[in-house]
Amino acid sequence: MNYKKELADILYGLLGQGIPADQLEILIEKPKNPDHGDMAFPCFTLAKLKRKSPNVIAQELSEKIQSAAFEKIEVVGGYINIFLNKKLVSETLINQVIDEKGQFAGLDFGKGGTVTIDLSSPNIAKPFSMGHLRSTVIGNAIALIAEKCGYKPFKINHLGDWGTQFGKLITAYKLWGDAEKVKQNPIKELLALYIKFHEEAESDSTLEVEGRSWFKKLEDGNEEALLLWQWFRDESLKEFSRIYELMNVEFDSFAGEAFYNDKMDRIVNLLEEKQLLVESDHAMVVDLSEEQLPPCLIKKSDGATLYATRDLAAALYRKENYDFVHSLYVVGHEQSLHFKQLIAVLGKMGYEWAENMVHVPFGMMLKDGKKMSTRKGKVVLLEEVLNESIAMARNNIEEKNPNLKNKDQVAKQVGVGAVIFHDLKNNRMNDIEFSLEEMLRFEGETGPYVQYTFARACSILRKANYQAVVLPENESTTWEKEWKVASLLMEFAPAIKRACENHDPSLIGKYIIDLAQGFNKYYAEVKILEEKESLEARLALVFSVTVVLKEGLRLLGIEAPEEM
Ligand code: ARG
Repeated sequence: MNYKKELADILYGLLGQGIPADQLEILIEKPKNPDHGDMAFPCFTLAKLKRKSPNVIAQELSEKIQSAAFEKIEVVGGYINIFLNKKLVSETLINQVIDEKGQFAGLDFGKGGTVTIDLSSPNIAKPFSMGHLRSTVIGNAIALIAEKCGYKPFKINHLGDWGTQFGKLITAYKLWGDAEKVKQNPIKELLALYIKFHEEAESDSTLEVEGRSWFKKLEDGNEEALLLWQWFRDESLKEFSRIYELMNVEFDSFAGEAFYNDKMDRIVNLLEEKQLLVESDHAMVVDLSEEQLPPCLIKKSDGATLYATRDLAAALYRKENYDFVHSLYVVGHEQSLHFKQLIAVLGKMGYEWAENMVHVPFGMMLKDGKKMSTRKGKVVLLEEVLNESIAMARNNIEEKNPNLKNKDQVAKQVGVGAVIFHDLKNNRMNDIEFSLEEMLRFEGETGPYVQYTFARACSILRKANYQAVVLPENESTTWEKEWKVASLLMEFAPAIKRACENHDPSLIGKYIIDLAQGFNKYYAEVKILEEKESLEARLALVFSVTVVLKEGLRLLGIEAPEEM
């Protein structure tokens, strides 16, 4: 079913040794203009190798290429243009979709290898930021795509639940805190305490000392400190869990920074053994000048360990316990240096698997062109955003389809889907402008547009009372009008593969937009239900579109309501 591969294999057979088939496959292009066929093989590389003109080689080869799947072969300007047999190819494809349904376009190159994905990872006692939203959404899609490619994803929420800020928070809570208020509104209250601490500390220098001393107590296992910390953590997690539930995201592990407290001595010892630790400014660091990076800070003068130390321990723990083939960190690009250092230190320690660690960075979420900040009162609380989006989707339903069943459920699927899609339709490195109105539009490149296209296709199938059965052999369609949509369906598996290899879910986002647009165009041109002739084939095509749109949305972490 992979016609590129088929063409590459045929060419390889004709050329004999020389360029391997997979290299030939990479050379095959998809012509921009459909008049030039469905695939084009440029002969310029071969021309150099064989010292012949590209057109001569193209001509020679084209005469020998034979496959039932190729209807016509033309030679133009050094290219071999291949026209697929629309009927054979479409029917094979559509029967495959009917047969495999949600499993369609599943790939197996992951070979069951584990991929750990570090995602979301918000900081306890602080609001869930837009950066954490992006990490959650991108990381979750990456996990779903990896699974589709035959990997075993393992999602880790590396909670920011340790560090000097907890000493400050305990100090502030003991001075000004109110247990009831914290219980009612944990993140808001703890954030207020944290801010107050910093305000007061400007005029009262004893506060900083007190804060440090409470953190020291916490690190030494002081019971009161630990109880407070545990409580802050539990309350914060409860609040985060509501967001995860809204977004339908689950984790395999919540081992955050604190989890590595008893695992850092080993790292420090290993670094010492390997003579990688040096003193610098009263701190212990790993020198990375060979790698042209600033030194990686491992231990402060008072013995306190750091973010990087915990990440070193976490990387080792993940390798030893999950034996990953790839270890991904979905974290904003402002932490690029940190991950370069992390990977460099592990490399210096002699761990070859450090090469399999990848920082998957992403751009910022902007509001009116500026970074959305959780500080300075400009807090945009994510839960509010999601709830507002759901409410707007709900209004929309009241307006457009007041008789819909399960309105609340659909409003949630559309409202949350809109926020997720808005994030995933752009290459992750782009900054994105936050706009609920834009996200919820029914036209243009939005989640609701794709969901709506899916629902419309479902309604056609319902009207026709369609039962997905394999097409009869003597099906009369020529697949001329259907070809654009059918050939888009063929692109699903390659899009999944590329999205997986590049850790870029937007390739699937863009793909399902293309498919939705292609389908809507077809829908506008062809009266799907009206003519008797070839009805079965048209319905099978519509069914295939529903399967692929639904699966595409699922891979992004978005649900597809059948009515909306
Ligand atoms: N908690 C960190 C932050 O909010 C992100 C942690 C990312 N993961 C990691 N292993 N360092 O900035």
